[in-house]
Amino acid sequence: AERIAIIGAMDSEIKILLSQMKDVKKEEKASVTFYKGKLENKDVVVFKSGIGKVNAAMSTTIAMEEYDVNKIIFTGVAGAINNNLNITDVVISDYLVQHDYDTTVFGTKKGAVPGSVDTKFSADETLIKIAKNSAEKVLGKNKIYIGTIATGDQFIADKATVQSLETTFGAWAVEMEGASVAHVANLYKVPVVVIRSMSDKADGSAHMNYNDFVTIAADNSAKIVMTMLTQM
Ligand code: ADE
Repeated sequence: AERIAIIGAMDSEIKILLSQMKDVKKEEKASVTFYKGKLENKDVVVFKSGIGKVNAAMSTTIAMEEYDVNKIIFTGVAGAINNNLNITDVVISDYLVQHDYDTTVFGTKKGAVPGSVDTKFSADETLIKIAKNSAEKVLGKNKIYIGTIATGDQFIADKATVQSLETTFGAWAVEMEGASVAHVANLYKVPVVVIRSMSDKADGSAHMNYNDFVTIAADNSAKIVMTMLTQM
């Protein structure tokens, strides 16, 4: 049996998915509600991780241990870093990095987790392809980008940080869960991809744009996941 874990950080990010699920069995573990069932006829477990790296890593670990998960898709919203991006455009992760991970005083690269070889965690090539095809079907080719997603326990709302995330990591988008989910997926050797639709530009007006666009962006990403499931 194989089951796909589909994770969002907030209710708005998994709303469409929950509304379409069949044969739902609901279980609560460590304050997280896991919805096991069928989506587009595929076995899935859908859950809201909560915001931030610890919430995302803990709930992903529980899914790995309890639900026989062999693929992980994270869906949600992010702040745009790359200048090519408009609000509601989509970034699909090829790499993910924890931008607030810093042991550079010992000579490591910023973002590098001691003990692992690479600075960034990679997403799965097959899942990236399926995500790209699906995203182009849902939103059209000119809104879809593949790039590095930076993750940290901060809501970014200033231009200087946007610029440093771009120069330090080549980041396209910033959010608060993706790289920690990829970190866990990497430790379990399970394929992962993160899909993020832009709710804001992570600049001085990020919090206002966020409030205006979070629902549209969250729905964009969830619709892409629905289409992905028909191709898996
Ligand atoms: N999620 C959506 N927008 C974000 C931002 N500006 N910073 C961090 N996470 C986000």
